[in-house]
Amino acid sequence: MAATIAVTRERRPGETRTAATPESVKKLAALGFEVAVERGAGSASAYPDADYEAAGARLADSAPEAIAGADVLFKVRGPEPDEIAALKRGALVVAMLNAYGERDRVQALAEAGASAIAMEFIPRITRAQSMDALSSQANLAGYRAVIEAAEAYGRALPMMMTAAGTIAAAKVFVMGVGVAGLQAIATARRLGAVVTATDVRPATKEQVESLGAKFLAVEDEEFKSAQTAGGYAKEMSPAYQAKQAALTAEHIKKQDIVITTALIPGRPAPRLVTAAHLASMRPGSVLVDLAVEQGGNVEGAKAGEVVEVAGVKIVSWANLPGRVATDASALYARNLVNLAALFVDKDKAFAPQWDDEILQAALITRGGEIVHPGLKAN
Ligand code: NAI
Repeated sequence: MAATIAVTRERRPGETRTAATPESVKKLAALGFEVAVERGAGSASAYPDADYEAAGARLADSAPEAIAGADVLFKVRGPEPDEIAALKRGALVVAMLNAYGERDRVQALAEAGASAIAMEFIPRITRAQSMDALSSQANLAGYRAVIEAAEAYGRALPMMMTAAGTIAAAKVFVMGVGVAGLQAIATARRLGAVVTATDVRPATKEQVESLGAKFLAVEDEEFKSAQTAGGYAKEMSPAYQAKQAALTAEHIKKQDIVITTALIPGRPAPRLVTAAHLASMRPGSVLVDLAVEQGGNVEGAKAGEVVEVAGVKIVSWANLPGRVATDASALYARNLVNLAALFVDKDKAFAPQWDDEILQAALITRGGEIVHPGLKAN
């Protein structure tokens, strides 16, 4: 008998994405799965029930009905208590679990005997790139950040020469050039802005320049070793931070739009834009803070709000990928399909490859226990 994957409607406020699309249902069927989709699971991201059904899914009237007897539960966010209660023992749950932030849910999954895979723990190795939800979602967040900025900005981004006179191109400064920052640079360039960008990792300089933007950073000895073996940034010393703040102070007052995306794994987001920086900016300027859910790069940014300080707008929507929900869902659903290939053997029988390094890195509960070393320790 084929193994079943359940997909339920997301219940968190503001979560518009879904973990399966009609396209992914077809691909999961080709891997040997049956898919049960709760009615309405795709409506907030513009995937109608009828399309799931046409793709071969079985529609269920409620989350518990979709989950009953299922071997796997796919979600965007961690499952709710009624969903956990409906899981059969040993069922596999896959979601962006926010495992460090939502410890109670991790505990509840362990107690329910579920095997849980945290998509945010998928290792960033070449073989796992097609399963990397952090990247697929950050890319769209970077795109959307520029669209949000353009919307809040009272001027045009490209230079325009018209009969009534010339409009100058907007100056956009991107702080933090990871996956989201790179896409923000590319999007702002496509809209005709003049783009500069900064990061503490030397590897980003060439990436910024290859996108046609100008790189600006404190390039001292500390900068040369700011990238960890894992490819992430280190927390910089107070001395470096002071130099960085001085450089930012000079540059930021000439900028129209600032997009901040700087993060340090396991640490609060670095504070890159202070109240003094904000005070030096022209009224009408816009900042978009993508790091707001990790504490924010911009002083005074408030999650889910647009804060205005002396005419300068700080836009800090939570869940920017959810504002491009159709594409964000499509990419996330493909990440899950690629991961699901590790759940079946060559005869399409359900047999998760537990010893695969990808599953090992991302598995957080199994057999009634929390098994991830980072979560067990504290
Ligand atoms: P992230 O979301 O952790 O951080 C965003 C950016 O903020 C990073 O570029 C970081 O260097 C920067 N940052 C941190 N502190 C800063 C400060 N004080 N000032 C300015 N910038 C600061 O990073 P993300 O997007 O997750 O990417 C991290 C790395 O992982 C990149 O090198 C990326 O290319 C790599 N990566 C590798 C993948 C693979 O091999 N499969 C997949 C995805 C990303």
